[in-house]
Amino acid sequence: MLKHQVIVIGGGLAGLRAAVESAMMGVDTAVLSLLYPVRSHSGAAQGGINAALANMEECKDDTPTRHAYDTVKGSDFLADQDCAEILTTDAPKRIYELEHWGVPFSRLPDGRIAQRPFGGAGYPRTCYASDKTGLYLLHTLNEQAVKHKVQVYNEWAAISLASDGKQNHGLVAMNLQTGEIASFAADAVLFAVGGAGRIFKRTSNAMQSTGYCLGVAYKAGVPLKDMEFVQFHPTTIIGTNILMTEGARGEGGYLVNNQGERFMSKYAPKAMELAPRDIVSRSIQTEINEGRGFPEGGGCMHLDIRHLGREKILERLPGIRDICISFLGIDPIDKPIPIQPGQHFIMGGIDTDKDGSTILPGVFASGECAAVSVHGANRLGGNSLLECVVMGQRSGAAAANYVKGKSSAIKEAVLNDALKKSTSEVEQLLKSNGKERLVNLRDSMAQTMTDKVGVFRDGKAMSEALATIQELRKCYRDIGVDAKNRKFNLDLLRTIELGGMLDVAEAIVAGAVARQESRGAHSRLDFKTRDDVNWMKHTLAHFTPDGARLEYEPVTKTKWEPEERKY
Ligand code: FUM
Repeated sequence: MLKHQVIVIGGGLAGLRAAVESAMMGVDTAVLSLLYPVRSHSGAAQGGINAALANMEECKDDTPTRHAYDTVKGSDFLADQDCAEILTTDAPKRIYELEHWGVPFSRLPDGRIAQRPFGGAGYPRTCYASDKTGLYLLHTLNEQAVKHKVQVYNEWAAISLASDGKQNHGLVAMNLQTGEIASFAADAVLFAVGGAGRIFKRTSNAMQSTGYCLGVAYKAGVPLKDMEFVQFHPTTIIGTNILMTEGARGEGGYLVNNQGERFMSKYAPKAMELAPRDIVSRSIQTEINEGRGFPEGGGCMHLDIRHLGREKILERLPGIRDICISFLGIDPIDKPIPIQPGQHFIMGGIDTDKDGSTILPGVFASGECAAVSVHGANRLGGNSLLECVVMGQRSGAAAANYVKGKSSAIKEAVLNDALKKSTSEVEQLLKSNGKERLVNLRDSMAQTMTDKVGVFRDGKAMSEALATIQELRKCYRDIGVDAKNRKFNLDLLRTIELGGMLDVAEAIVAGAVARQESRGAHSRLDFKTRDDVNWMKHTLAHFTPDGARLEYEPVTKTKWEPEERKY
């Protein structure tokens, strides 16, 4: 049996930041990751990371409190305001720490960190490293993990937790290189497994962002919070839905319809292209639905950055230019970019407190997979990388402190039972010649989620989606795995993932059907307004074999009363 004091599942930004903190506190810490950490999806984050540094004339009055207010307003008043204040107060500290660790931030002429405007923000406060911010942060954090001797288990997939119902004792995971299934004893397990974009057909997320690991925590009794709030990024390229950073609009890019109009003037006359993402995505979708779109990719708008000029594009947006050339054969220096909204982020996730603790002692979560909640019903661009480093640090410290203060021993019997159960489930899958095929079930789930639980929603379509997902969960019981080998059996891995994805998809739709209002990214055509009297509350989904059991809990308010969001 392998053993560590803290095991972090996930080697992306939040996971590495948590692991570094725990290791720096003298705790034996390991990371278990599906991929080599530097290949994590955090590396695809482009535009930047928010902090009220007030580095420029245009943002000299910015403060963490103003940043918190923008975050709360952006969240459509569903974020817990105490948590939003923690996020924004810790932000400058974490950015300067990253600077000292070597992140090559883009600079102002006087050497200070440059900041660009992003959506829903009162000031330019997004720090960036051209348009590859996530990649640079990830590599820098990886160096810190090596420095602090965090042990990394590369290419391992977590399968289950080992909980006795009162406390967690570790986890069971599969080594993808050998097919071996092993138990890991751990006083604390910290989920930092990223998003769940692949539950949807059109997503900016990488192949590994399946969200199945949220299902691992969920099945072990940890509730998922606010899962109905799914972010659709306004600008993903047609075809692959790869991200075109909000930084392109932050640098001055336009959104244009087939009439040549900068149509955002109708929807957000002040903020224009820099309204929050929920509003810009709805505006784009409305233009497409009303016939003012371009036909490519099933309907799209143009993101036009030509007027920024070659020099600025090459300096500030070289990465998205390369993507356009490689994937669309279009050079945005000369031509507009065809874009459409695509799933990008889940505001919801594993329910945690402000330090990343869950209701199951010994289990923590951080980053996109967690719902603290700092994003509420709609996240502001640039607050995701921030959440990873702020909440990663806090949860890593909380896990290390928990381990240091823990008196009871790990129960090996619980780990052995979990190992036996998971091994038998995986063996059954491997042997199975069931009639259902992975690709069909997965495709049906993803298409259903994109078609019926998208930018605009209504009760009828979502109820149909719920019925489809429930049916797919039944079909899953008769799934056949074609590849029978042990080493790198991706057919088996994807089948295991699909089980968790369906559980998570069901929680998303169940929460969305139940929430009879429009708030942030949850925009219902049959309940068009926000309803603070009945719905200013968090959804908690508890796992049952028959589907999510929903409960609600209040939102924490500190300074700000809900108001109408105008931009
Ligand atoms: O548009 C972007 O660069 C994405 C940033 C984010 O999701 O925070």
